[in-house]
Amino acid sequence: MIEIDKSITGKTKLIGLIGNPVEHSISPQLHNTISRHLGREMTYVPFRVEKDDLKDAVKGLKALNFTGFNVTVPFKKEVMKYIDENSKEALLMGAVNTVKNIRGKLYGYNTDGEGFSRAFKEATGTAFRDKKIALLGAGGAARAIAVKLSLEGADSIAVINRTVSRAEDLCELVNNNIRRVAKPYGWDDDTAESVFADSDIIINATSLGMHPDVENYPYVKPIKFRKDQIVYDIIYNPARTRFLQEAERHGCVAVNGLGMLFYQGIYAYEIWTGIKLKEDFLKELFLEFSGLLGVRQKAKLSSKS
Ligand code: ATR
Repeated sequence: MIEIDKSITGKTKLIGLIGNPVEHSISPQLHNTISRHLGREMTYVPFRVEKDDLKDAVKGLKALNFTGFNVTVPFKKEVMKYIDENSKEALLMGAVNTVKNIRGKLYGYNTDGEGFSRAFKEATGTAFRDKKIALLGAGGAARAIAVKLSLEGADSIAVINRTVSRAEDLCELVNNNIRRVAKPYGWDDDTAESVFADSDIIINATSLGMHPDVENYPYVKPIKFRKDQIVYDIIYNPARTRFLQEAERHGCVAVNGLGMLFYQGIYAYEIWTGIKLKEDFLKELFLEFSGLLGVRQKAKLSSKS
C-alpha cells in the first residue's frame, strides 16, 4: 500500500535558513521536530546563499511569504540592511539571526544573547545580577554575551582579548549604550590574573579549543580557578574543552555551549509562532538534541534562578 505523504500541503507555513555553508546545520531537525510535536503545519528549510545573492534571497523569502527565517554565518551583520525593523538588542549586538515576516514587513532579532542567558541560568541556577564576570574574547559571540550580561545587571564585565583594540571597542559599546560596567584587558596583561581571581563567572567566547584544535586553550596560561567560580564555554564540540576540564579539575561548575545553541533556536521558534514552549518538553528535547550531536552536558538543565 502506498501511504500518501501529508507533511507538506498548500497551507504549510515555511521558515528558512540562509547562510553559507548550511549543510552542517542541525536547525532543520530541531525546528521540524518541534513543529511535528506540536502538530503545526510548519516546515524549516535551509538555503545556501552566495554573498552577492543575499539581497535577492531576502527579497525572495519575503515574496514567497515565508513566516520567517534564521540567518547564520557569514550574513548575520550584512542582512540587517535588508530588514525593515531591527530590535534594540540586535542593533546593540550588531547582528541578526532571526527574522519574522509580518504582512510583508521584516523584523530582525538576535536570539544568541537570550539563548546564552537562558542556558546559563538553566544549567547553573545563577543569574548575572551583581556578578563580576570575566569574558574571554571580543568577536561576534562575545558581543552578544556582553550586551546581555550588561542588560541583565552584571556588576562588572572584564573583556579579555588577544587584540586589545577589539576588547576596547566592545567595552565602549557596552559602556556608552547600556551601563558603565565593562573594562578591556589584553591577552598578556599582568592584571588579567587578578581579574580571574576576582570573578564569580568566567566565560570563554573565543573559538580556542574547538574541534579539531582541542589542545588549544583560550588564554596564555592555565587559569587558577576557584571552586566557587562558574565557568562557561560557548564551544560544544568537544563537550569538554581543555578549558572546561581545567575548571572541573578545580571543582567548578563547568558548562558547555550546547544549551546556548539549543535555546537560541527555541527563542527563534517562539518568535515565529508566538508560542511559549513547555519546560518539560524542552528538557526532553534537549536530551534528544544532545544525543543528535553526540554531546552530553554534565551540569543539569533543571534548577531555575
Ligand atoms: P565569533 O563571531 O565566533 O565570536 P570572531 O568574531 O572571529 O568569531 O571572534 C573570534 C574570537 O576568538 C576573537 O575574540 C578572537 O580574538 P582576536 O579578536 O584577537 O582575533 C579569538 N581568537 C580566535 N583565534 C584566536 C587565537 N589563535 N588566539 C587568541 N584569540 C583567538
